[in-house]
Amino acid sequence: TKVAVIYGGMSSEREVALMSGETVIQGLKEAGYNVVSLDLVITESLVPWLQAEKPDLVFPVLHGGMGEDGTLQAVLQWHGFPFTGSGVIGSAVALDKYRSKQIFRAAGLPTADFNIVKSAEQARQLEGQLHYPVFVKPANEGSSIGISRVNSKSEFLPAIELAMEYDKEVLVETFIDGPEYTVGIVGDELMPVVSMKSQTEFYDYEAKYISDDTEYNIPSGLSDEKEAYVQSIAKQAFEALNCSGWGRVDLMMNSKGEVFILEVNTIPGMTSHSLVPMSARAKGWSLAQLMKRIVDTV
Ligand code: DAL
Ligand code: MG
Repeated sequence: TKVAVIYGGMSSEREVALMSGETVIQGLKEAGYNVVSLDLVITESLVPWLQAEKPDLVFPVLHGGMGEDGTLQAVLQWHGFPFTGSGVIGSAVALDKYRSKQIFRAAGLPTADFNIVKSAEQARQLEGQLHYPVFVKPANEGSSIGISRVNSKSEFLPAIELAMEYDKEVLVETFIDGPEYTVGIVGDELMPVVSMKSQTEFYDYEAKYISDDTEYNIPSGLSDEKEAYVQSIAKQAFEALNCSGWGRVDLMMNSKGEVFILEVNTIPGMTSHSLVPMSARAKGWSLAQLMKRIVDTV
């Protein structure tokens, strides 16, 4: 089977996607696939390359815009190339945290209360009404880029400004005190829950990819019952957004033990610090086995 890995890409998560791509390429080779790869830097290069390579399937390893957001999936579908992961709708909705949360709400799934801010004017109206701390996030970004934990009113407008550098729509979410949990999904299989604890104020870019001080726990330390509950919420979130193949659902728990869905990642990080490979190992799957399982979902 010839697998074409498309990695890197043009979003603000490019550096992460380069690292993820290397892991995926290595794992696919270990699993015995004939692997070709393209570090995507301009969109025009993609289709001619695929038409020349004629892969049996495409494995996109692009995080964020122009890759994880349904645009690439539409191009692949249009040109008749089968691919791993979610289709157009699941990819597009999952990358948009605001629409994702509206769907979670409509499906009766738990997610933190939120407001959407589309202008400085709206931000100024909102700043006096909030109970701090809050989280401020660009609606369409990954890897915690542009996200701030806002502890008081004076930090709110600067945080909105920062988030607006990345997106026209900014999500303002009620603070959940944590810890953060994540659940990998491959086909019908749910990975063991991972709990994360960073030394930073929240699980940010530094904690995700740079710091060696971030604590990961598998087993998560949850009771069996709670572990199964977190996994079931994750699966329902994945299905509510019409996601398929593989992905990872991020959640938070408050001090009362209530669980809230943060988001679904349709092309989760695959770097050496990343959680899907880590939880797959805990399940007893090597990187090669993980790759084969993902390919087999197509
Ligand atoms: N957006 C990053 C890559 C992740 O969710 O793992
Ligand atoms: Mg993400």
